[in-house]
Amino acid sequence: MFNTVQFYYFSPTGGTKACGESFCKAIAANVKAVNLGLEEAAFNGDCDLAVFAMPVFAGRIPAVAAEKLSALNGNGTKAVTLVVYGVRAYEDALLELNNVVKEANFTVVASAALVAQHSIVPAVGQGRPNEEDKASIAAFAQQVMAKLASGDVSPVTVPGNFPYREVGSMPFTPICLPACGKCGACVAVCPTKAMVMDNECVKTDVDTCILCMACTAACPKKVRVLPPAVQENMNEKMAALVSVHRENEYFL
Ligand SMILES: Cc1cc2nc3c(=O)[nH]c(=O)nc-3n(C[C@H](O)[C@H](O)[C@H](O)COP(=O)(O)O)c2cc1C
Repeated sequence: MFNTVQFYYFSPTGGTKACGESFCKAIAANVKAVNLGLEEAAFNGDCDLAVFAMPVFAGRIPAVAAEKLSALNGNGTKAVTLVVYGVRAYEDALLELNNVVKEANFTVVASAALVAQHSIVPAVGQGRPNEEDKASIAAFAQQVMAKLASGDVSPVTVPGNFPYREVGSMPFTPICLPACGKCGACVAVCPTKAMVMDNECVKTDVDTCILCMACTAACPKKVRVLPPAVQENMNEKMAALVSVHRENEYFL
């Protein structure tokens, strides 16, 4: 087991963090975590391994988090990359994450595409990562340790295409239902600062919002939601995935 792992994650609704923590706890005694949703990324080299965990949004990694990683200089430190997706597909996300991490001067020695509950349609991948997923992620950590113990730092090849998929913008944002208590919990967690409390009213900038769902997850009264017609449309679009089970994929 390693002594210290530096863990960078972006996890608006917790699935990415849960997957990444399962890996980090299985590979190191100490986990130094940086939440890229709320903090800037910094790297002081004081670790045995760096772990990067990102959710998949429209087949890509969130640009706001990728930009923060671009500011790092890993000085060749060994790294493991994880993308976490909601059953549909991870498309170019893992390739993009690996490229961002390599450009930041880390050496990617292993990668994984992991499944979590879909943050827009929770019936898809419901309850994942489950105990079985966590055990499989811990087993992957053992494989990574064995690879590194053997002195093997060969690069990994992951699926994905470059140029990456284009990400379109959406003409809506989550809304507050009338029962909103104006507590500001949603505003506080927005990773793109798309929300402000204006005259005790939550306002959301449609061009800045990335629909990450952090605000809906943070709402203590569960009254921050997608517009009901949008939610119904998403539920219908994803209905066929409710019964689909995908296994985690590991690349060493
Ligand atoms: C805006 C948005 C786009 C998403 N796009 C995809 C996708 O392309 N493929 C997929 O399988 N899941 C997709 N998901 C589901 C997330 O990747 C998945 O729920 C992930 O666990 C979210 O991470 P979090 O729980 O850390 O917030 C998307 C979710 C959101 C909010």
